[in-house]
Amino acid sequence: METLFKHVDENLETYLVELQELLRFESISSDADKEDACRQTAQWLADHLKSIGLNNVQVLPTTGKPLVYAHHEGPAGAPTVLIYGHYDVQPVDPLELWDSPPFEPVIKDGIIWARGTTDDKGQLFTHVKALETLLKLRGELPVNIKILFEGEEEVGSPALTEWLPDNKDLLDCDVILVSDSSMIAKGQPSISYGLRGLAYFQLEMEAADGDLHSGSYGGAVANPLNELAKLLTSMKDDDHHITIEGFYDDVIDVTEEEQANYAKLPNGDERVLEETSAPALVGEAGFTTAERLGARPTLDANGIWGGFQGEGAKTVLPAKAGLKVSMRLVPNQDPHKIGELFRRHVEKHTPPSVKVKIIEMHGGFPFLCPLTEPALRKAAEAMEEVYGAECVFTREGGSIPIIADMARMMTKPVVLMGFGLNSEQAHAPNEHFDLDNFVKGIKTSLVYLNKLVG
Ligand code: BES
Ligand code: MN
Ligand code: MN
Repeated sequence: METLFKHVDENLETYLVELQELLRFESISSDADKEDACRQTAQWLADHLKSIGLNNVQVLPTTGKPLVYAHHEGPAGAPTVLIYGHYDVQPVDPLELWDSPPFEPVIKDGIIWARGTTDDKGQLFTHVKALETLLKLRGELPVNIKILFEGEEEVGSPALTEWLPDNKDLLDCDVILVSDSSMIAKGQPSISYGLRGLAYFQLEMEAADGDLHSGSYGGAVANPLNELAKLLTSMKDDDHHITIEGFYDDVIDVTEEEQANYAKLPNGDERVLEETSAPALVGEAGFTTAERLGARPTLDANGIWGGFQGEGAKTVLPAKAGLKVSMRLVPNQDPHKIGELFRRHVEKHTPPSVKVKIIEMHGGFPFLCPLTEPALRKAAEAMEEVYGAECVFTREGGSIPIIADMARMMTKPVVLMGFGLNSEQAHAPNEHFDLDNFVKGIKTSLVYLNKLVG
């Protein structure tokens, strides 16, 4: 290991030059104008994987953005590790809040700044550099490696979802390794054994067929903005409990083992207050902040619009109002069933004075890996060796819906080995990635892959 680690330290400079090249591609999956950039990113990654000596590297076309796939055989009988990551990124607006342009990476004080650094190009690159180190120094890998990098994670993985059922065999493996999540704090290694799912909807409400004078009609014709706001607030009570009928029916309670785990960790209050500067915290009664974030579902408005927003005052009854609302789900909630319950709630709470249209956006299943899974233990040991601190097990608040699908379809364990930090502004301006975690990520990957055969 010492020799491998030394090689990583000595070549960091080169790794960073390459990572910056990868970060320069504007692979925003939600933007139709960036189709070419996404294709080029996939091609660059495939070329790079070939250049480090991986065999059977391919760019696989799909109905959407291409997949980068590789299958490199290790010793006969060794386990197969499937490494998943995503090369697409979130949009960059508001651009004016970035201290440096999002696709012109900057390295300063041990941190790399650019869109995609922590989510997920920087994180997926740790494994690429670990594989490179092994191939260079040993000429072979300790395990069989498969790689799957997709370009649509940030838009709900539509193409991969379609591709998966017919191509399961290509992904056949013993364990799925993913670095697309966060550690609970800098210097505190953690392995996530859960991800939340998602059910996302847009509501459009209207009353009259055009804007009306609020003096001539106000008080007699419904105001869609008022009604939509009322509908939204009907979904949660003052204890932050979601009031959609049946919403909690399938939620599995935190086990005693998990509770003991949570008791060992900070409750999260201080961290979240510090990271967000929010004046106070909120949340479902009876649960700690850490539990609220990982083990409990949520319902949040993501956007609301309608009516007059210009300067001054305009006395108008707006014709329309709109709302985007998402629910983070936990095991064993089913996004389809939750969607049905949501629809029923909307229909029941919408008065006859307005019409409402429900549009389904993306959804995804939650994921939970049993804490007893040996692959998790080995991953924790690898992190402990590199970070020199005890590794803890946490549930992530975020979602990677395709991971839940793959775990279900293939019945294989998933190791969520996050090297990001929640404070690294994923999806926001000034996204960055700690270079100490980048280096430790490469080293942890090296230790882990070796551990799987030792
Ligand atoms: N890497 C994140 C998921 C994540 C975030 C895991 C925070 C752990 C902590 C991923 O890229 C992401 O942003 N997922 C979306 C899913 C959606 C677009 C379908 C999310 O969680 O909002
Ligand atoms: Mn991600
Ligand atoms: Mn993301």
